[in-house]
Amino acid sequence: MCGIVGYLGAGNAVPVLINGLKRLEYRGYDSAGLALVTGEALQVTKNKGKVADLEAMLPPGLSASTGIAHTRWATHGEPNTVNAHPHLSPSGRLAIVHNGIIENYNVLKEYLLQKGHVFRSETDTEVLIHFIEDIYRSSASSLPEAVQMALRRVVGAYAIAVISADEPGTMVVARKGSPLVIGVAANGDFIVGSDAAPLVEYTKTVYYMDENEIAYLQRGKPMEVRTLDDRPVSPKLTELDLSIEALEKEGYPHFMLKEIYEQPRSVHDSMRGRLLPGKGMVKLGGIQAYENHLLESRRIIMVGCGTSWHAGLVGEYLFEELARIPVEVEYGSEFRYRNPIIGPGDVVIGISQSGETADTLAGLRLAKEKGALLLGICNVVGSSIARETHAGIYTHAGPEIGVASTKAFTAQVTVLTLMALRLGMLKGTVSEQRARALMRELDQVPELIEKVLQSDLLIQQIARQYQQAKNFLYLGRGINFPVALEGALKLKEISYIHAEGYPAAEMKHGPIALIDENMPVVVIATRKGNYDKIVSNIMEIKARNGKIISIVSEGDTQVKALSDHTIEIPQTDEMLTPLLATVPLQLLAYHIAVGLGRDVDKPRNLAKSVTVE
Ligand code: M6R
Repeated sequence: MCGIVGYLGAGNAVPVLINGLKRLEYRGYDSAGLALVTGEALQVTKNKGKVADLEAMLPPGLSASTGIAHTRWATHGEPNTVNAHPHLSPSGRLAIVHNGIIENYNVLKEYLLQKGHVFRSETDTEVLIHFIEDIYRSSASSLPEAVQMALRRVVGAYAIAVISADEPGTMVVARKGSPLVIGVAANGDFIVGSDAAPLVEYTKTVYYMDENEIAYLQRGKPMEVRTLDDRPVSPKLTELDLSIEALEKEGYPHFMLKEIYEQPRSVHDSMRGRLLPGKGMVKLGGIQAYENHLLESRRIIMVGCGTSWHAGLVGEYLFEELARIPVEVEYGSEFRYRNPIIGPGDVVIGISQSGETADTLAGLRLAKEKGALLLGICNVVGSSIARETHAGIYTHAGPEIGVASTKAFTAQVTVLTLMALRLGMLKGTVSEQRARALMRELDQVPELIEKVLQSDLLIQQIARQYQQAKNFLYLGRGINFPVALEGALKLKEISYIHAEGYPAAEMKHGPIALIDENMPVVVIATRKGNYDKIVSNIMEIKARNGKIISIVSEGDTQVKALSDHTIEIPQTDEMLTPLLATVPLQLLAYHIAVGLGRDVDKPRNLAKSVTVE
């Protein structure tokens, strides 16, 4: 959940660490800190708040050639300066940064307390560095050996980086359950990061650490990697496919707005080389070898969290409509603890932008144990879910930095559409004529999203009128019901306004009691989606003086006449409308949040990648 960066090289660690933290700040922003090996000591600077606050505290000209840094999303202990990372060992000679949770930290702490250790923070991480030093000092082992021995006793998830004032030219890093990437620059410098973003300015040659690995980095020498049980690993370096521009705002006031506007391109990239309307084909190389398995499966289970769970719900409609395969959609957090009935006849699809969400990953691991085939739909290349599934399809949406997921969602839905269509064509459950029509329309979607984006100004005006509302209701039917859920999630997470998504017809079973003249109701009312029924739902709201903001198909007159505000989206096949209807809801949430002065890219209490339960 936190972000960690490390630098060991010939240059100055400080700018590398600060820039790296800025790139990782989406992972958590409760506090930030760094530790440098300066002279013969460790110098730690840390603070509650954001990386910019930490940067402002650093004296000009600060320099060191070894350092580690951290941006925190608090788990153990409140977000204050004492609990901020890095944490020091009792002697002050070792420092650690950590992303993850040490589940047995209480047991270790008890053991150390009995030996007289005194802890300053409430964190599990401080316990770990005390434990490492305890082994380091008592067993005459080297630093990497001491870290390795300590980690063998640790239960939980971690990516860690440890430095020592006694060995200034070294760093020990390890991972289990939380991601860690090591970049190797042309001059031999090492840059370590929770993801590749802090590395990209310095090198494109990286090693994605595997589970249960520990790496010993020494200035001027090749990295040494071993497993926690001490088997040597020869690290396979890969070339990063990531540009600096993709990590910059490029003139947009927020990453979220940039990412909303990137959707014509990101949706196109998700389809590139896969949708071949000219040939009447959909080609999904990543899962080709498993297509028969999918066709013979008794059901598909989609597992995800948050927005990715919503994409799974859209997938359910697509797969059932086009491929006639039964689908269940599960929250990772529920699925993993429910003792679900899964067997070799099942296919479990993990959907995740980051590919690191702990609950989704745990659900997938459980399904693997029970013999299911695992497929992944991930955005981040080389992420844990991408690596632990049998096969999968990358969404290719490009880096998503805003905490609120936007382009990742539409890319996930695009990939699910392609999968459903491909399976439907193989199975013969979608006629050739419909398949061809769908392919043509899908090919048009990037252009249609461009058109939707032209409503931005109108949406901004609507946002201004409703930004003081205390509650919002979002309604949709059929395949646009999950879009209503997604619209509500977007609004609440970045504006802090309470919002609920509902299937429109469910309104009369409870939520209708909430409707009065102060309740804005966003209704997705595209032409083919149970249109008459939605019209009735809108009338029910109007009869109670609710305010209607409708998303309608271009040319609509009936819903428009009933609505207080209308946003048109181009006409397309109903199965493809989520790709269009989502966009105005993203913009509405964005403008309301900006109008309220919220920190749109870093909403309170949230982090982009949730690597804890
Ligand atoms: O990386 P993932 O897609 O697995 O993340 C899942 C959720 O944490 C994520 O979608 C979250 O709900 C977003 N903040 C929604 O905008």
